[in-house]
Order: sequence, then C-alpha cells, then structure tokens
Amino acid sequence: MLGSFFCGKDIMSVSSVVLAAGQGKRIKSKLPKVLHPIAGCPMVAHALATVHHLSEALPVLVVGVGADLVRDTLADTVRYVVQEQQLGTGHAVQQARSLLEGESDLVTVTYADMPLLRPETLQRMVAHHSQSRCVVTILTIAPHEPRGFGRVVRDSMGHVAGVVEEPDATPEQLAIRELNAGVYCFDAVWLWSHLGGIPLSKKGEYYLTDLVGMAVAEGSGVEAVTTEDPTEALGVNTRVHLAEAHAAMRQRINEKWMLEGVTIVDPAATYIDVQVSLGADTVVHPNTFLEGQTNVGAECQLGPNTVIRDSTLGNRCVVHSSVIEAGVLEDDVEVGPFGRLRPGAHLAVGVHMGNFGEIKNSYLGPGTKMGHFSYVGDTQTGPNVNIGAGTVTCNYDGKQKHRTILEEGAFVGSDTMLVAPVRIGKGAKTGAGSVVTRDVPPGRLAFGVPARIQPEPSGESPPTDCAEGE
Ligand code: UD1
Ligand code: MG
Repeated sequence: MLGSFFCGKDIMSVSSVVLAAGQGKRIKSKLPKVLHPIAGCPMVAHALATVHHLSEALPVLVVGVGADLVRDTLADTVRYVVQEQQLGTGHAVQQARSLLEGESDLVTVTYADMPLLRPETLQRMVAHHSQSRCVVTILTIAPHEPRGFGRVVRDSMGHVAGVVEEPDATPEQLAIRELNAGVYCFDAVWLWSHLGGIPLSKKGEYYLTDLVGMAVAEGSGVEAVTTEDPTEALGVNTRVHLAEAHAAMRQRINEKWMLEGVTIVDPAATYIDVQVSLGADTVVHPNTFLEGQTNVGAECQLGPNTVIRDSTLGNRCVVHSSVIEAGVLEDDVEVGPFGRLRPGAHLAVGVHMGNFGEIKNSYLGPGTKMGHFSYVGDTQTGPNVNIGAGTVTCNYDGKQKHRTILEEGAFVGSDTMLVAPVRIGKGAKTGAGSVVTRDVPPGRLAFGVPARIQPEPSGESPPTDCAEGE
C-alpha cells in the first residue's frame, strides 16, 4: 500500500514536514533560497519529490521569509504553515502540530534546502523506524568535512546518546566524524507530546536535535540509519553550496542515463534536467544542455554546443551546435550547425535544416530541405519542399503576422522573399532573388521583383494574379 509501512501486524501511516522557513541570507538573493533551481526544478521541489511517496497526505511545508513566492510556485501541492519568527528547527516543526497531530503514526522531518536526499534513503529510515519501535530515528553521515553539522554522540554500547551542535561541542565531540544529516523519523504521539518541552538554547533557539537527548534520558529508543553518500546531506546555504548541489545532481542524472544506454562523451560538461528522457544509443556531446520537459528518442546525436528546451525529438535525429525551444523533431531530422528552432517549430520525418536557419511556429513536411541561412515563420510546407539559401518568409507587416504555404514539392529559389500571406503551389518554383507578393499556381515558375509568373511554353498569356508592373 502506497505511503504506509508494514510493521509486524500494523500498518504505519506517515506525515511529512519539510522545513523551509530559514532566512537564507547567505544566498544573497531576491529569490527565496528554496526556489533557486537545480537541474530544472526549484530546490524545494526536489525535497518534496523525496517525501512524495511516503504518504498520500500532502506534505506540510514550514515557510517564513519569501512565503508568498513559495506559495505562488508550489500552489496546492503542499500544505503550508508559517513560522513567523525563526526560533529554530524545533520551533519550526512545532508550527505543524495543529495540522498534523492525530493524523499519522509517524512523522518525517526533512529540509527544503537539502535537495539531494534520496527517496530510497528516507524510505529505508522509515522502514527501520517502523520495525524498531523506537521514538526517534536519525540519519547520519561521515563526510570528510564536518561543515558545522551536529555531532552524533554514542555511548559505550554504541547506542546514540545525543546530538551536540558544533558551537556547544567539546574538543573530543568536535573530533567525532559521525554527523547528524538533519533527517528524522519520529513516533507521532511521542513527537507532539515532547516538542513543547525543548529548552531554549544559549543561541535563543529551540533545537529539534534536543529531542534525541530527551528520548535517551527517558529510556525511549533512538536509532540511527547511515548513508554512505555524503551528498545526500548537502545543505545549500550559499551559492558555493548551490554549485556543489548542481554538480552532484548532474552527476547522478548523467550516471542514470549512461546506465540506461546513453553515451555521454563528457559528463562534466553535460547538463540534463531531471524531467528529461533519452533513448538508448543516443550520444550527447559536450556542452549540451537538455532542459525542461524534453524527450529524446534513440540513436540521436546531440551537440556539441547545443541547447534543447521543452522539446520532443524522435529517433536518429542529429542536432549540432543549435538551439531548440519548444520544438518537435520527428525521426531522422538534422538541424545545424547553428540552427535555431523557436516555439512551435515542427519538423517532420527526414527534414534537413542546415546552417544558420531559424524556424518559428511552422510545420515542415517530410523530407523538406532548408540547407542554408533562411528564416521560416508561420509557415506550413508539404512534403519534399526545397527552401533555397537565404529564403525569408516576410510574415509580419508591422501589425499582424501572416501565413505562408509551400505545397508539396515546391522549389523556392535562393534569396526568395515570400511576402505573406502567400501560397506556392504544388511543384511550383521561384527564381533566385524573387520577391513573391502573390500566390504562385501549381507547377509554375515565378521570378523577379515583384515576382511575375513565367508564361507557359505554349505562349499563353501570364495569369493575372501576379500582374506585370505592380
Ligand atoms: C541543523 C541541525 C544539525 C544538523 C544540520 C544538518 C538543529 C538544531 N541542528 O543545523 O544538527 O547537523 O541541521 O544540516 O536542528 N529552519 C526553519 N526555521 C528555523 C530554523 C531553521 O525552518 O527557525 C529550517 C531551515 O530553513 C533549514 C533547516 O531548518 O532548511 C535547518 O536549519 P539550519 O539553520 O540550516 O540548521 P543547522 O544549524 O545547519
Ligand atoms: Mg544548515
């Protein structure tokens, strides 16, 4: 059953509290710290994804500074409680009491500024807690640097005896390398009955960590679960930490895709957001950014020097040194080098778009070729259209946008200006340098400035829709 943990005969239900009320001053930003993005998601969204599977009940987010912006971003995906004054982690959890007391058997507490905590680790803690029947389970780590974390003190039997904050620690305690990650699982009844008993610290805060010593003192059990991966406890306080979190997240995402059969030529120079998906045997070359809701098929070649955002690519596509935003590429499409697809570009199977092209809000039919420096906007092409070098769809008259239609097999000569609205008929051609202001009938050639229709070889007079002298 999702969101519950089996313990002997009992099913344990879980509520989650995520702390996000800290001031975040050291990030020195107008944006609340927890909204800074990491791999395409606000930091807090990573923390919420971690607790997501624990419970069907929405997590409770404790907010303070910047609460309005956080609410605007997360909307009703969480329940909010406000901590008006930042009086410590114990005080922050206390704010959730009126909402959560009586709701569940267990309560987890995690931080919104700790984006790399893995769901598996939290689930392991909750499972361990459920089995052990203790009142507090903490997560511990043993990184190279203590980074100001609380030290986990153990007694002669090796049981957890307490957590001592760095400023309060003796020299012997400072030497302890087992640290409190700041991730907790509590027995709910015990938590809500003991939170109010936390004494005020010398710093003027209520430390959640004091609950560990309180549980030990009254003989209730305290358990510790350890993680070997110190990045899980990486808390973001400064932009330096933010870059570290980015790097760790990037490494995880890249490793995941490499294990799924994607070649990443240089993982240190490849930036893939969490929501992105990639097919097997796709190769990602350095300095490539795959962002937002981007889905890439199999056997593609992406990069180098490429940005693809919110786009869908089929199989065997090649994108070299290009920028694609909100575009769709079907199978076997080539783009670049130096192509730009703006929102609404849809390139059907086998389209070739060469260097220095720009496409916006347009559908290019199967097999269409656009080899060199062209702008195509608000256009629909049939299959196998040739768009010659330097073609421009003049889609904007200063007031409105207009559409261009290029029917099947149309051949647009180099340097053609297509003054929209305009239609080039099936199999029709335009001469090099022509400025086409009127529709060109199927199979005919238009040329000149403004373009005229070439008479039929039979000698019949030119049609009137592209009259001479205009
Ligand atoms: C806390 C732990 C410490 C642990 C460390 C791990 C305490 C007393 N100490 O220390 O043992 O090693 O985390 O990172 O808990 N917050 C609020 N309201 C507050 C204060 C904090 O919401 O009044 C939030 C912060 O936004 C942050 C989290 O709680 O997300 C932790 O606060 P922080 O000040 O970073 O705690 P530390 O002193 O680092
Ligand atoms: Mg901290």
